[in-house]
Amino acid sequence: MEIVRVPRIMSLITKELQIKGKSIGFVPTMGALHEGHLSLVRRARNENDVVVVSIFVNPIQFAEGEDYEKYPRDLEGDKQKLEKLEVNYLFYPDVQNLYPEGYSTYVTVEKLSDKLCGRFRSGHFRGVATIVCKLFNIVRPTRAYFGQKDYQQTLIIKRMAEDLDFDVDIIICPTVRELDGLAMSSRNLYLNEKERQAATLLYRSLKEAEKILREEMAPDKAKRRMIEILSSDPLVSEIQYAGVYDPLTLEEVNQKNNKYLIALAVKIGDTRLIDNLLIE
Ligand code: PAF
Repeated sequence: MEIVRVPRIMSLITKELQIKGKSIGFVPTMGALHEGHLSLVRRARNENDVVVVSIFVNPIQFAEGEDYEKYPRDLEGDKQKLEKLEVNYLFYPDVQNLYPEGYSTYVTVEKLSDKLCGRFRSGHFRGVATIVCKLFNIVRPTRAYFGQKDYQQTLIIKRMAEDLDFDVDIIICPTVRELDGLAMSSRNLYLNEKERQAATLLYRSLKEAEKILREEMAPDKAKRRMIEILSSDPLVSEIQYAGVYDPLTLEEVNQKNNKYLIALAVKIGDTRLIDNLLIE
């Protein structure tokens, strides 16, 4: 695996690959890789000639007071995992390279960015759309892989790619879960033992909501049940949102619908966790 730190060099490499007609599978990450990321890398490996993974903890997608400084970083561990999966290139730029002094251009995907997580993380999706746009320009992927756990992010990236005419297939892969259902996330590392136990409520509340929707198609009742379950543990310090939404518009759904997104964001202690299920 070749490690590339300079955007210009990454760009030259992928330009050449493109000229040679090679397909490029791209997995953008912020590192601290877990099985969720690795499932994306495996899929990219299966479907493309060349696989590029990026690791970049993107400062502009963290709001003031969020966990940018303490976000887990484990370059050595990550390299080993990626080597094993036969990744061809690890793109590992530094902040100065991507946002040099005077940097002033940002990408905003309107409407979708203001919903759900957007209401609690000011500027987050502008930061995500901007970095993904820059990475797509540098890496020129044929296919780019994202996890469904960040459902709103996937919707925003798809919209951005379509609106800005990127010639890339956005591929959404299923959420990978621990045995007790907790969605894998780099932020799970912040949880102490008791908080980790409390975190199992997230999946439980999603599954109960799913049951209510499947049996009664009653989104309001499903939402009430989710909040009841999440409120049952004092370690859940804040429920930012929990409910049933339209999977395309992210508007809250109160009536029967063909498809539902059940989604939530809660804080356990100081750790913010999100999860979702899509129901057809
Ligand atoms: O999902 C993530 O890890 C990040 O939001 C992404 C897509 C790598 C952009 O920084």
